[in-house]
Amino acid sequence: QAPSLIDRFGRRVDYVRLSVTDRCDFRCVYCMTEDMQFLPRQQVLTLEEIYSVGRAFTELGVTKLRLTGGEPLVRNNVMSLIQALGRLPGLQELLLTTNGAQLGKLAAPLRDAGVNRINISIDSLDSERFKRITRVGRLDKVLSGIEAARKVGFDRIRLNAVIMKGYNEDEILALTDYAVNHDIDIAFIEEMPLGQASDHAREDTVCSNDWVRERIESRYTLVNSAATTAGPSKYFQIPGQKSRIGFISPMSHNFCADCNRVRVTVEGRLLLCLGNEHSADLRSVLRQGSDAAIQDELASLERASETPVSDALKQAIIAAMDLKPERHHFYEQ
Ligand code: GTP
Ligand code: 5AD
Ligand code: SF4
Repeated sequence: QAPSLIDRFGRRVDYVRLSVTDRCDFRCVYCMTEDMQFLPRQQVLTLEEIYSVGRAFTELGVTKLRLTGGEPLVRNNVMSLIQALGRLPGLQELLLTTNGAQLGKLAAPLRDAGVNRINISIDSLDSERFKRITRVGRLDKVLSGIEAARKVGFDRIRLNAVIMKGYNEDEILALTDYAVNHDIDIAFIEEMPLGQASDHAREDTVCSNDWVRERIESRYTLVNSAATTAGPSKYFQIPGQKSRIGFISPMSHNFCADCNRVRVTVEGRLLLCLGNEHSADLRSVLRQGSDAAIQDELASLERASETPVSDALKQAIIAAMDLKPERHHFYEQ
């Protein structure tokens, strides 16, 4: 029987979100401060270490890996990492969440590397507004990135939109129309108290997805969809359309009972839940007994795919499952 990771509440963890960098070419108001300080190089996992973490999880029964950031596609040599992960036996889905700005050139190589699905963040279809939200992002690059991704034929493409009062709450229908007209999915996400966005007052901007859904239902009929990623999205279908409309509502509808996932930060901290501090340090396990600085990241990535992953790493992951808390506590903050 294939191994599996089960927590104290009987939830099976088969989905891991791997952050591959803390850096990003955008500075979205809900995610980062304008003058973000990024981590020093030695605190960040090497490509080889990220690969080993992904491999250890798949050997423990994880079937889905989602690469996140920061913006995953700004990491040097990230395509080599993605290609190596794409060859992992046991992996059923390799997923990516991106701001879309690099997809013009990377959509085809990503598909060739085995990426199955991508989620692309887009919070506005107006270039001035897009700039206000992302501070530096360019809407035209993201739109051409979405086009490139459609052309190369990913399974499903999903847009992610965080709706905020005073920024984009009047674009709910425009964003939905865009998704429907392009036969892609869209998920509306409630803003969460995450990240280092300390210069942005969330109390004034956060919108409930019940309200977002009402706006959409003023134009479209939404019927329950059986589609699920056993994740936080609740999906609806519009009769006669290919697109699915998803709602990720951590603030208004708790979905923790069905949680199937954990995440690993780029510092190698295994976070058992997004909204709690429970974590385990995988980096120190990875670096036990190795003091040599990595000279050639690509050569060591290649070596890593040829050598077995350490038992200590797998044991640390198994032990950490007992730390997974029952639910997040965002609303108590
Ligand atoms: P699927 O693989 O289709 O389930 O995608 P996803 O929705 O998990 O991925 P994506 O990276 O696009 O994330 C969309 C939003 O969901 C982001 O704001 C994430 O922070 C949030 N999210 C993902 N997983 C969790 C979770 O376990 N708990 C909470 N509270 N939010 C999550
Ligand atoms: N609250 C909700 N969603 C967020 N994202 C980033 N920061 C936050 C936050 N504080 C979203 C991005 C992207 C996805 C990975 O997470 O818009 O689509
Ligand atoms: Fe970058 Fe995504 Fe954060 Fe925006 S939300 S700053 S695109 S990592």
